Amino acid sequence: MVEPTTVPLLATRLLKSVPSSFLLMAIAMAFLPPSLLVSLLILLPISTVAQSNGNITVGDSLTAAANSSSWLSPSGEFAFGFRPHNDRDFFLLSIWFAKIPDKTIVWYANGDKPAPGGSKVALTADRGLVLTDPRGQQLWSSQTIIGTVASGVMTDAGNFVLEDREFNKAWESFNSPTDTLLPTQNLERGGVLSSRQSETNFSKGRFQLRLQQDGNLVLNTINLPTDYANAPYYASGTTSSDDTNPSSPGRELVFNESGYMFILRENDQRFPLKQGQQVESSSDFYFRATLNFDGVFTQYSHPKAPNSNRSWSSHWSQPENICVSSLVEAGIGVCGYNSICGLKEDQRPMCQCPPGYSLLDPDDRYGSCKPDFIQGCEEDRLGRPGEDLYTWVDLTNTDWPTSDYVLLTPYTEDRCRQSCLEDCMCAVAIFRLGDTCWKKKLPLSNGRVDSNLNGGKALIKIRKNNSTLPVPDPRFDQAPELKKKNQDTLILIGSVLLGGSVFVNLILILAVCLGFSFIYHNKLQKIIANASSVQLNLRCFTYKELEEATDGFKEELGKGAFGVVYKGKIQMGSSVHVAVKKLNNSFQDSEREFRTEVSVIGQTYHKNLVRLLGFCDEGQQRLLVYEFLSNGTLAGFLFGDLKPSWKRRIEIAIGIARGLLYLHEECSSPIIHCDIKPQNILLDDYYNARIADFGLAKLLMMNQSHTNTAIRGTKGYVAPDWFRNMPITAKVDVYSYGVMLLEIICCRKSVRMESDLEDQAILTDWAYDCYQEGTLDALVEYDVEALDDRKRLEKFVKVAIWCIQEDPSLRPTMRKVTQMLEEIVEVLAPPCPSPFSKPG
Ligand SMILES: *[C@@H]1O[C@H](CO)[C@@H](O)[C@H](O)[C@H]1NC(C)=O
Ligand SMILES: *[C@@H]1O[C@H](CO)[C@@H](O)[C@H](O)[C@H]1NC(C)=O
Ligand SMILES: *[C@@H]1O[C@H](CO)[C@@H](O)[C@H](O)[C@H]1NC(C)=O
Ligand SMILES: *[C@@H]1O[C@H](CO)[C@@H](O)[C@H](O)[C@H]1NC(C)=O
Ligand SMILES: *[C@@H]1O[C@H](CO)[C@@H](O)[C@H](O)[C@H]1NC(C)=O
Repeated sequence: MVEPTTVPLLATRLLKSVPSSFLLMAIAMAFLPPSLLVSLLILLPISTVAQSNGNITVGDSLTAAANSSSWLSPSGEFAFGFRPHNDRDFFLLSIWFAKIPDKTIVWYANGDKPAPGGSKVALTADRGLVLTDPRGQQLWSSQTIIGTVASGVMTDAGNFVLEDREFNKAWESFNSPTDTLLPTQNLERGGVLSSRQSETNFSKGRFQLRLQQDGNLVLNTINLPTDYANAPYYASGTTSSDDTNPSSPGRELVFNESGYMFILRENDQRFPLKQGQQVESSSDFYFRATLNFDGVFTQYSHPKAPNSNRSWSSHWSQPENICVSSLVEAGIGVCGYNSICGLKEDQRPMCQCPPGYSLLDPDDRYGSCKPDFIQGCEEDRLGRPGEDLYTWVDLTNTDWPTSDYVLLTPYTEDRCRQSCLEDCMCAVAIFRLGDTCWKKKLPLSNGRVDSNLNGGKALIKIRKNNSTLPVPDPRFDQAPELKKKNQDTLILIGSVLLGGSVFVNLILILAVCLGFSFIYHNKLQKIIANASSVQLNLRCFTYKELEEATDGFKEELGKGAFGVVYKGKIQMGSSVHVAVKKLNNSFQDSEREFRTEVSVIGQTYHKNLVRLLGFCDEGQQRLLVYEFLSNGTLAGFLFGDLKPSWKRRIEIAIGIARGLLYLHEECSSPIIHCDIKPQNILLDDYYNARIADFGLAKLLMMNQSHTNTAIRGTKGYVAPDWFRNMPITAKVDVYSYGVMLLEIICCRKSVRMESDLEDQAILTDWAYDCYQEGTLDALVEYDVEALDDRKRLEKFVKVAIWCIQEDPSLRPTMRKVTQMLEEIVEVLAPPCPSPFSKPG
């Protein structure tokens, strides 16, 4: 990654001769918040003059100064008063943890309007707390009913409360939270937490946590300065979407005294924000939950013991991966334009500019990046014929999923580069899936590193000579003229932008954006549909709605162990195709489990899983609504007329392994699939493998009162564990995966009864024989592509044999399997999979 370089002023940028695509980007950047704080907040020691009973009476006041005093709670744990803001002489009226060394701020009044030194906060009877600057201008006040306040108290919970004469609460800081919640501070419907700009700039930032009126707790970005809320990047899903079939919606977000955070539903059920919260004792630890300035909502704890050298440590965060879960169609995403979001250890994002790009504002690491060179159609045309203007930098597992304008497939990587090179609009090409090329233009948004991209590459086009513009060639008569014209318009637009009022600028920017969105209307629609279906909560449908959506359950897509699947169409922003699964009768009497399981399934989010969009739970009718995938099942793909390419098969095999790994280890409550087979793997538009039907086996087992006598699964794929009265663990999926991996390798079914070659009838046996005898050629039926990649072929066969070991303890975990497939770890020679049942 490049070092940040000095940034030319936006003005000079605009006035330079820049191509139109660049202008767009410059305008987009004018949209961004100006520079963030350079210097760190200086945490001056504060001489606190304790009024330690916590009671403040009308007339008391505090003055903002380096040595100013503060109002302490009775225990001295919380303080209310002024904190120095930064190196300038400004102060923040705030509440903080007074006993811990870094005096963490948990509430602030005037983040947007820092108070100059000499400002005063006073407790008045008529207007409660009033903050005025030295000239007497009011900067902030608590909004209380006039003439009601008698006293104030800083409580030991960290709440500053104003009371009237009868000790009724007239105002409390807990009811106007900023970015932090403390234990016993609950968020009612309509309540909002707002992030700061940065760790040290307390102006309103662009992330929000809201408990919506429908009971859903969401995290979303807003577009400053209008506060327009973009689609959520996290949603708890605690809603009821209609009143004929209510699921109990969230009533409030509770952060209880012991440090547990959950959404309390109307029926008093609790929806924990994170499964399995581990919380220390509240007598030894402080807790807080903060919406960080980078959009991650985190619960922290800090030891109360004065000499402990532990600082705040995080318990859990939502969302789990903000880089991947957010997809903002009308804003800048988590990181700025052209930036790339990666996840740090602590689940917080890190933004980086791609090579050849640098920060627009060097002090704002989370802001946008600009290219260090000028790229555009005019400039490209001015280059000498045949000259190589650009060079490439490749980043693996990197994508900007929303900025593409051309899709080319099937295509090779070389042709992808060539096409981007020859296209003066193209800034980056994404090459993935072995044969697909997306061309992207500036500004790039929602950039992220995502290991689920299966080694997909971002090919970044960088101008070789970035210091000087190409010298105009007199032979190209027209060009300089064109350039001149362009320059004039640019100067015009530039001066309007710089000279016009904020309002005019906004209108201009809006106009450009509107034009933009008009052109890409269809695309945006699609993105919005995707984003909302992917990130929003589960929708609760009525039976009637689904009957209409499927046209009376007309088009049957397939039949599975759990019910019949129909094709349908629902409205979710735009009209979206869905697959509606009508569960069969065995699900009918599991009243509570159904909802629980559905919510567990609804919380899974992985590229290799079929996404659940909603459900219907009306008496005898239980239906699940999934996204519709266009390319059918893996069974159809593998065993159809055309043999799919080896490369694609490899990607599918790795994709399924990743999906299973997620189900087993990475989602909030582990899920054993129990019925892995090619019929339960679907393929999306890009032939990504997506696991279907997960989470349902558990429901059925619950029904059968926890006996595992009934074998779940399909003949040929079922692990021997089921027959042996052994505990059913995730290893049963590993077995089925192994069988299926062999099918993917060989493009044939695991059992081939019609064959007259008896030794080949059972694929698992035959594969081991071939492996032992070194006759893999026969195993893959002399598939040239696979044999060209013999090393990998051998490796995959070995992995499969490890997976189908009869002894579950010998089978690797799915984590190990993915590591072996991805060549991260060595694959040892596997033993015979069935040492007991095979003679000889
Ligand atoms: C904090 O950020 C806001 C918005 O970007 C900016 O206007 C303000 O000047 C910054 N505050 C400080 C103290 O730098
Ligand atoms: C402080 O106020 C509370 C009521 O809010 C009262 O019970 C208590 O006696 C007061 N303490 C002092 C020392 O005035
Ligand atoms: C704070 O310092 C100023 C001058 O530096 C002084 O006038 C004032 O009395 C001090 N206030 C307190 C509470 O120490
Ligand atoms: C807080 O919530 C947790 C989890 O629901 C519960 O176990 C605990 O008893 C609650 N504590 C208090 C003080 O209510
Ligand atoms: C472009 O210029 C900057 C500074 O002028 C330099 O650091 C960078 O390496 C250059 N990039 C390329 C691709 O030459």
